[in-house]
Amino acid sequence: MAKRFIEKGLTNLVRARPIIIIVTLHPDGTPNAGTFGAYTNVSATEIGIAIGKPSHTYKNIKAKGELTINVVTKPIAQAAEICGQDIPASRSEIDEAGLTIEPSKKVSPPIIKECVANIECRYLKEIEINYHSFVLVGCIAGHIEEEFIADDGGLDVVKSQAIFNIGYPEPLYAILGNPFMVR
Ligand SMILES: Cc1cc2nc3c(=O)[nH]c(=O)nc-3n(C[C@H](O)[C@H](O)[C@H](O)COP(=O)(O)O)c2cc1C
Repeated sequence: MAKRFIEKGLTNLVRARPIIIIVTLHPDGTPNAGTFGAYTNVSATEIGIAIGKPSHTYKNIKAKGELTINVVTKPIAQAAEICGQDIPASRSEIDEAGLTIEPSKKVSPPIIKECVANIECRYLKEIEINYHSFVLVGCIAGHIEEEFIADDGGLDVVKSQAIFNIGYPEPLYAILGNPFMVR
């Protein structure tokens, strides 16, 4: 085995979280959906997401302070690719992707019915980093499909076939398999 020393693309060495669709509301109340993969759990109730500042998602979060996070699985991978395109605000990615929305319980933006888990969130703070802003959001409420609840109450990412982008910006995805316990 031999290791290659690299100085570019360093964060690609630790990428692995299921991709998410963030739903926000445009100023006129129309739902907007964008696909995101660069995020991390910061605490039990906070998530940080690197969001491009020109995106509708970023502008809507800044304007309204609310969003929903929706976990993507293999059956709706194509829909997530569509939500990852730069679609004008006058068109609905949700309709074009063939997704269905349902009302949230505590925030204004809706959740996506076809997603196995959804988190209702509020904007907390951000750190601007060049093109992106690292946006910290607080998790207020959640929804999870009964059949995909893991023993610890979280999402069973293996059973639910949550998808991971393993070659962004290429549309190359994988699902996790063969989990094992180390005791
Ligand atoms: C798999 C995937 C992952 C993505 N991850 C991110 C990300 O982490 N941050 C980001 O700013 N854009 C990301 N994008 C690009 C956004 O989805 C894209 O800019 C989209 O147009 C944003 O939609 P909006 O303008 O409706 O907010 C990703 C796209 C795909 C397909």
